[in-house]
Amino acid sequence: MLSKKNSASANFMLSAALWLVIGVLMGLTLALQFVFPDLFRGIPWLVFSRLRQAHTNTVMFAWLSGAMMGVWLYIVPRLTGRQLWSETLGNICVILWNMALVAGIGGILLAYTQSREYAEFVWIIDVGVMVVLILNLVNLYMTIAHRTEPKLYVSLWYISGTLIWMPMLYFIGNVMWNPATGALTGIDDTIFNWFYGHNVLGLWFTTGLLPVIYYIVPKETNTPLYSHFLSLIAFWGIAFFYTGVGAHHLLWAPVPYWLKTIAVAESIGMILPVVAFMMNILLTMRGNWNRFMTSIPLRFIITGWAAYILVSYQGSHQALRGINLITHFTQYVPGHAHLSLLFFAASVLMGAMYYIVPRIYNARLYSRVLANVQYSLYVIGFTFFFGGFLLTGLVQGTSWLHQGLPVWSVLPGLRPYMALRAVGGSLVVISFALFTLNILVTVWQRKPVSQPDYPKPKSPKLVTTSD
Ligand code: HEM
Ligand code: HEM
Repeated sequence: MLSKKNSASANFMLSAALWLVIGVLMGLTLALQFVFPDLFRGIPWLVFSRLRQAHTNTVMFAWLSGAMMGVWLYIVPRLTGRQLWSETLGNICVILWNMALVAGIGGILLAYTQSREYAEFVWIIDVGVMVVLILNLVNLYMTIAHRTEPKLYVSLWYISGTLIWMPMLYFIGNVMWNPATGALTGIDDTIFNWFYGHNVLGLWFTTGLLPVIYYIVPKETNTPLYSHFLSLIAFWGIAFFYTGVGAHHLLWAPVPYWLKTIAVAESIGMILPVVAFMMNILLTMRGNWNRFMTSIPLRFIITGWAAYILVSYQGSHQALRGINLITHFTQYVPGHAHLSLLFFAASVLMGAMYYIVPRIYNARLYSRVLANVQYSLYVIGFTFFFGGFLLTGLVQGTSWLHQGLPVWSVLPGLRPYMALRAVGGSLVVISFALFTLNILVTVWQRKPVSQPDYPKPKSPKLVTTSD
């Protein structure tokens, strides 16, 4: 059972889809607490400080990372021309991963936390996470090492890099050699925390998800990727510029000034790889925009691509000291976090799952209508949700900076924007629940594909080649 072809990929993705619903319900509960602060008074595990950490860990590790690993387990064998090295090992990773996350997230709700952002899990959970990261690395590297396809496609560059970077980052960022606290002391710890905190975004989610876009856009449009060269500029650009920007999270902390200046300069430097990536996909899409409406996977993937460009543009500006002065310590930053990890990352993964799950089960998607409704709710809901974050943040920042108003005096004026966020957020939650339902019923019903609702590629060589 554990060795069935594609089962590890499917199990990672399906369990992640369930986590998604739990994670966004936690987010909605948080958003409601901003409007009605006493809503859950007296219920310790729903207190804001615990639930916020549980929310970020659920959506980032259980949903995004689980689904991402599932997608890789499907893509890598296709690009290497062979089966996954060990399906059993893949399924062991699924089981260990979910066990670690149930214990870790449950632990956070019971107040077992290290309280370092994105490194909240206590040491023993970190060990479980590290074991999965290493086993997954071995499984995918062995698949790549024994490939029959001589070419190393663009997506494989990104995935191989990401597989190596993450265990190192996780070990360093969680200060795993110090199990008692999982931390250093003083400002050194802050620098370590944000070296990790930033790179988990840049060298795990970003470099882990761009290859998914590089894989699915050519597949769904039957067009080879526009340029191998541009994709390499983007790859090395990210590896060079993105690794040193951790201090842009700390522009107002007492860390060395030169470290902050490097972080700001490299944040601007990120424009280079982002533009290279943007142009590559834009030029691959040339003449294919009609597929945007007809292909559900492509619509989600292109939405994720656009969100990535937007969030990077926002990020490079936000890293400038003059702008960060207004936006730091405000809701503008979680707004950026959702534009990236929700609108970019979750869109890419939903698109990939709409593409992969029906193929694994050789079944039709349960309902295209439901998927279309889900997309519309998602985009409308996200617009209000993001608008709520942005407006709250800008009002907070300008009131404090330009009018010198104390925090408490601004709060009543922020409530309507917080409510806007909760309303938009609930549409997003409904949309994500519909997504999970559509995927699970697809697997449950397994309607045969007499007439596949996805086109067959013109030639297997054409669609994945990158030069
Ligand atoms: C895939 C979906 C989601 C992801 C990946 C995600 C991710 C995150 C992240 C990374 C943070 C921390 C932000 C920071 O520290 O700057 C956060 C906080 C938060 N999220 Fe989400 N989120 C998701 C969905 C939602 C939804 C649907 C809602 C509301 C309905 C929501 C409401 C919140 C709230 C209220 C906070 C706390 C903001 C604060 O502390 O000021 N999230 N989320
Ligand atoms: C060119 C690209 C980007 C740049 C220059 C950039 C810059 C920044 C800066 C300066 C902050 C700190 C804001 C503050 O605390 O005042 C930040 C926060 C954040 N960024 Fe980005 N960003 C970029 C892209 C991304 C991407 C692609 C992701 C996700 C995959 C992402 C996820 C986040 C998250 C989650 C936070 C909130 C961290 C926290 O305080 O909890 N960013 N970004």
